Amino acid sequence: MRIGIIGAMDEEIALYLEAMGEPAQTVKAGITYYEGQYEGQTVVLCKSGVGKVNASVCTQILIDTFQVDKVIFTGVAGAVNPELTIGDIVVSTDCVQHDVDVTPLGFAPGQIPYTEKWVWEADAELIQLATDAAKAITDEIQVVHGRILSGDQFVASREKVQWFYEQFGAACTEMEGAAVGQVCSMNGIPFVVVRSMSDKADGSAHVNFLEFTKLASQRSFAMVQNMLRALSTGAGTAATAAPSVIVYSAKGCIDCDLVKKALDAEGIAYEVRDVMSSPEHQEAVEKLGFMGIPVTVVGDKAVKGYQPEALKELLGLK
Ligand code: ADE
Repeated sequence: MRIGIIGAMDEEIALYLEAMGEPAQTVKAGITYYEGQYEGQTVVLCKSGVGKVNASVCTQILIDTFQVDKVIFTGVAGAVNPELTIGDIVVSTDCVQHDVDVTPLGFAPGQIPYTEKWVWEADAELIQLATDAAKAITDEIQVVHGRILSGDQFVASREKVQWFYEQFGAACTEMEGAAVGQVCSMNGIPFVVVRSMSDKADGSAHVNFLEFTKLASQRSFAMVQNMLRALSTGAGTAATAAPSVIVYSAKGCIDCDLVKKALDAEGIAYEVRDVMSSPEHQEAVEKLGFMGIPVTVVGDKAVKGYQPEALKELLGLK
């Protein structure tokens, strides 16, 4: 299977590039496509550039030239649903262009004139894979399904966010997803858009965006890594795929948070197992010979506590 992975900015593809080693490179329409093996899949990675036109060109080339079977768009977005906060993840149910406005001719906001189709539905299997994969990386964030809005605008207005929520029932807003969704749908290619919230698209959006884009991109990367793994095992869902890194932890445990932060910083995907919410997880820790948490497990090896050097060794980073 050939999977197209698109990010709009350097930060959004940097970790994939690092992980892919030395992929083959092809430049087309000014966009570099990186083709290689990753997590058992043939992956074609690219940075589309920002905005719907860039995303459309990039997606059509992925389909025509690189013959991808599925497309995953990964990156950051501004939260629209007031219940979402920075760091939370939205998996697209569908995508709409919020800046298509032919309302003077009687069309609905977002409606592409003279066509029935302007809401682009994501693929059910990819939605499930993405959701399971996102839930496996950490229990500290919300992972929701929802409508993703796209427009050629960086949104930084509380009023606009409120209108997006009331008019479209959207979860978040960004600048590419609906273009990718439309091109994929027109070509019959399954897609999903996965976005980490870098800001709330309000008056502080520009500050939050700069501050949180790196962390949000790390989360998206860890998640897509899990998705690819699940696709490779043919598991159907990431939840049933064997995670390579498990962190036994609990809410409010400072060392647990330090371990997770260290893994996030390395872009390493991991599954969190909360020992307070499951006696089975508690038992597993005891069986490993430990009395407390955090315990980080890779295969048959484990490290207790936050020990940066021992963790690096466990993770094969030194
Ligand atoms: N991507 C991240 N935050 C965004 C925002 N507030 N508006 C548009 N795209 C974004």
